[in-house]
Amino acid sequence: MTAVSLESFLDQLRQFRADASAALDAASDAAAFEAARVEFLGARSGRLKAIQKQLGGLSVADKPAAGRHFNEAKATVEALLTAAQDRVAATTAGVTAEAIDVTLPGTPVPLGHVHPITQTIRRVQEIMGRLGFESVDGPEVEDQWHNFQALAIGAEHPARDPLDNFYLAVARGADPLLLRSQTSTVQIRVMETRQPPLRIVSLGRVYRPDTADATHYPMFHQVEGLLVEKGTTMAHLKSVLRLFASSFLGGDVHVRFRPSFFPFTEPSVEVDMEWGGRWIEMGGAGMVDPAVLEAVGYDPREVSGFAFGLGVERIAARRYGVADIRDFYRNDVRFLQQF
Ligand code: DAH
Repeated sequence: MTAVSLESFLDQLRQFRADASAALDAASDAAAFEAARVEFLGARSGRLKAIQKQLGGLSVADKPAAGRHFNEAKATVEALLTAAQDRVAATTAGVTAEAIDVTLPGTPVPLGHVHPITQTIRRVQEIMGRLGFESVDGPEVEDQWHNFQALAIGAEHPARDPLDNFYLAVARGADPLLLRSQTSTVQIRVMETRQPPLRIVSLGRVYRPDTADATHYPMFHQVEGLLVEKGTTMAHLKSVLRLFASSFLGGDVHVRFRPSFFPFTEPSVEVDMEWGGRWIEMGGAGMVDPAVLEAVGYDPREVSGFAFGLGVERIAARRYGVADIRDFYRNDVRFLQQF
């Protein structure tokens, strides 16, 4: 056996500890620990084993000190290995605890849905579409021609009262613009750009400075219908409204006309619908006034038409059994999620 000096033996032990410690610090999983364990402490070809073999080459006088250092180094590296294994086991357990257990039953994610007023609008569009009415839009900021004049609502008509309208500080020509107070504006806009025959329906917001209560709101929605064809009569109007009402409300609905007045229809009626034993006023209707047909360049001797305007909140409230239309706009999910 070649002689070994105590100094070189201790150097090797020091190097062994330093290398083992660095390797264990760098190891982060079970495979790396096993590799380090085999390299440093492996019983057959580990580095500690190789150092141990040199013990026999030391002088008898140095052996006790060398043996003590050897045992110390061995214990230290064994402890480092255990500590490092514990450290990684702890973090791995943490990761496992936080990980998603895909075998657990899912928690439902609450899904939103379309607002009941929008649902109502879409349903009305669909029903009217089946009756041949094309859905069209019009602007919410209107001029006085479309909101009043062309609808035969003259300059002195009380419907133009500033207290009943949201006039804007912006004018077109001499007249201030306004937030439209009715969707009848769209009748004019369509007739100005198209020729009869036509069947349109227009659903959208209208604005009036009303105090909010169970049946009023300063912003609400209307559905406007217009049909202009040769030979149109009130009988067609009533048939369309009854077909609409029974499709929308379902089952046996009665439609009743009460004589009324609107500047843009002649004759004019209020439309009531009975469903489940209760009559409700839904809006107005009538035969398009010849003056309106003339205002858009139609010949009233050639064509005639009917028009109607219903309150969307009203028909939605009726259909869903809502007592206070303000609930539609409170954004309370407990209310909205019922639809
Ligand atoms: N525009 C009317 C209103 O807001 C409702 C109305 C009545 C519309 C008669 C019509 C109609 O088309 O023919 O009170």
